[in-house]
Amino acid sequence: MTHQELNHLIRNRRSIYPPSFLDKPIPKDVLETILTNGTYAPNYKKTEPWRFKVLRGASKQKLGLFLANAYKSATPQEQFLEKKYQKIIQKAEKSAAVIGLCMQRDPQNRLEDWEELAAVAMAVQNMWLTATQYGIGAYWGSPKAIQKADKIFHLEDGERCLGFLFLGYVEEAMGKAERLPLEERVIWMD
Ligand SMILES: Cc1cc2nc3c(=O)[nH]c(=O)nc-3n(C[C@H](O)[C@H](O)[C@H](O)COP(=O)(O)O)c2cc1C
Repeated sequence: MTHQELNHLIRNRRSIYPPSFLDKPIPKDVLETILTNGTYAPNYKKTEPWRFKVLRGASKQKLGLFLANAYKSATPQEQFLEKKYQKIIQKAEKSAAVIGLCMQRDPQNRLEDWEELAAVAMAVQNMWLTATQYGIGAYWGSPKAIQKADKIFHLEDGERCLGFLFLGYVEEAMGKAERLPLEERVIWMD
């Protein structure tokens, strides 16, 4: 990969939402590559704190219902929209696969919580970039319902869910994201 190709990949990774996904399954070996690249993220004290749950088929359908019902129970009846409820179900249905992004705290408590969280986020970026290179769109959803993720996943002691990576093939890349110029976010201290 050239420098230009790497720059292009990083700058053209976008959040792509399930309505844009094609009705095309992601082969298991491609998912395995995505997950494997996730596990190559740096992680302090090599705790490998990521725990991924790959949802396909019936489990994916169950996730859609779980998220939609979480919306229903958190919304006052007069504000509830059936259309939104269905849209949430569709989100899981239109995804070829959804990866539950979970994090396991070090049982010996040697690390700060944020250090393990950062490692999982780096793993997600690895997976997201890999998916992009394979023509697969993705987005990280972090609905409030993740606090009740133990209803859909078996979570070990000290394990929690940080969201879901919704994945699906897309027709074409969405193009470069908008970002502020470096001057707005970088201070050079020579
Ligand atoms: C930790 C994290 C959580 C996110 N949660 C959500 C979410 O719940 N819903 C959503 O629409 N996008 C979510 N996003 C995606 C961001 O909105 C998106 O990355 C941002 O708009 C920048 O767009 P880009 O990914 O195309 O560069 C999340 C992103 C991150 C890193």
